[in-house]
Amino acid sequence: MLKTVIFFFILNWVLTFKLINGRIFTFEMHHRFSEPVKNWSNSTGKLSHWPLKDSFEYYAVLAHRDRLLRGRKLSGANTTLSFADGNFTFQINSLGFLHYTTVQLGTPGVKFMVALDTGSDLFWVPCDCTKCAPTEGTVYASDFELSIYDPKGSSTSKKVTCSSSLCAQRNQCLGTFSNCPYMVSYMSAQTSTSGILVEDVLHLTTEDGHPDSVEAYVTFGCGQVQSGSFLDVAAPNGLFGLGMEKIAVPSILSQEGLTADSFSMCFGDDGTGRISFGDKGSPDQEETPFNLNPSHPTYNVTVTQIRVGTTLIDGGFTALFDSGTSFTYLVDPTYSNLAVNFHSQTRDSRHPPDSRIPFEYCYDMSPDANASLIPSMSLTMKGGSHFPVYDPIIVISTQVAACSLSFLSFSFLLH
Ligand SMILES: *[C@@H]1O[C@H](CO)[C@@H](O)[C@H](O)[C@H]1NC(C)=O
Ligand SMILES: *[C@@H]1O[C@H](CO)[C@@H](O)[C@H](O)[C@H]1NC(C)=O
Ligand SMILES: *[C@@H]1O[C@H](CO)[C@@H](O)[C@H](O)[C@H]1NC(C)=O
Ligand SMILES: *[C@@H]1O[C@H](CO)[C@@H](O)[C@H](O)[C@H]1NC(C)=O
Ligand SMILES: *[C@@H]1O[C@H](CO)[C@@H](O)[C@H](O)[C@H]1NC(C)=O
Repeated sequence: MLKTVIFFFILNWVLTFKLINGRIFTFEMHHRFSEPVKNWSNSTGKLSHWPLKDSFEYYAVLAHRDRLLRGRKLSGANTTLSFADGNFTFQINSLGFLHYTTVQLGTPGVKFMVALDTGSDLFWVPCDCTKCAPTEGTVYASDFELSIYDPKGSSTSKKVTCSSSLCAQRNQCLGTFSNCPYMVSYMSAQTSTSGILVEDVLHLTTEDGHPDSVEAYVTFGCGQVQSGSFLDVAAPNGLFGLGMEKIAVPSILSQEGLTADSFSMCFGDDGTGRISFGDKGSPDQEETPFNLNPSHPTYNVTVTQIRVGTTLIDGGFTALFDSGTSFTYLVDPTYSNLAVNFHSQTRDSRHPPDSRIPFEYCYDMSPDANASLIPSMSLTMKGGSHFPVYDPIIVISTQVAACSLSFLSFSFLLH
């Protein structure tokens, strides 16, 4: 939902992003059923025990484990770092189907449940609120304690002035040493955040055998005024921008010499996953290059072919890999080609148009529908790698008398 568009179904893969400071730009993915992922889940023993439960409380408990020691030095160039409260991520369907994690900021540390967004750069949290999402009296707030950052309440908080190289909106500055203002608008209608930039410690931990705590100074937004989706359906407690710009936390960690200029995220089919800074992936991962626009680099990739069931659709198009977008959006003619081919190979009957459903192609499925009859899909990326689309449909259940009715859905966007 948050930024310019497109892929969502890549969610079930492990992704490694090599950032702008590196010489090679690759986009590597592990399918969740791949050997390395199975091995990883076997070795940690976690995947099989991961929950299906979609409650904040449960995930908070998960993410709050593993409190770590402080003070030792980082062990070398291969160090990977994750959040002090754990490398776990969790998808929350009621909050935009986005992936969230718990971060701890400031001294003493205050916890925030932030959405992970590869489609934007700035990390911001609600702070000195003029207009923030409610922290009480909402469904989500009853399950998770939402925080508000208070620069005065943290002994390590520093102001970021207009003279900082990270201050992008200097034309809005009152003076060289005044607070640096920021304002970011997102793709979703009227969704934005604004406030001032601040600097404080982000509590991290090394991921090797001897976890050490690492306190990295990062620059982030003190979000005083939020609008649109941020007030209710998404990221009520802040957004963690993972883009390629130098203000993004992965870039800052690399700039400070704490990690390599790369990170990885892995999202499992049960909605839980992990994030790791400095992870360079492994040689057996599939790769595809980024299309880099030097003035504003993004995770822009090229799809050369889509397979839908037995049909191959040619014609390359570019797409942004954006974990902050709830659904996948395709441009025409690819969208229409894919939809027509999907439809012709689908046996269920099409559901009549329904203004409550924001998708063009919906089907009625019987409660005992066989999901294996749904046409499978895979993508071929620039460079030739193939990526299966694990879960291309959304099943919406509706209680109608004694039976349940579901729809098979596509989403689309005119671009
Ligand atoms: C996964 O583990 C198996 C057995 O432990 C090993 O033979 C295999 O090489 C491993 N694969 C990868 C990709 O690490
Ligand atoms: C993971 O563990 C299961 C059961 O312990 C085993 O059957 C499977 O081969 C293991 N997979 C890998 C890739 O090591
Ligand atoms: C980092 O890891 C790579 C491969 O895993 C290894 O070749 C390299 O020597 C390691 N570098 C350091 C500094 O440990
Ligand atoms: C995630 O964190 C757990 C607990 O600290 C650790 O055992 C595991 O190795 C980490 N996972 C990865 C992939 O680094
Ligand atoms: C990806 O990059 C190419 C080349 O810079 C550009 O033409 C295209 O519009 C970009 N695609 C998206 C979805 O932004």
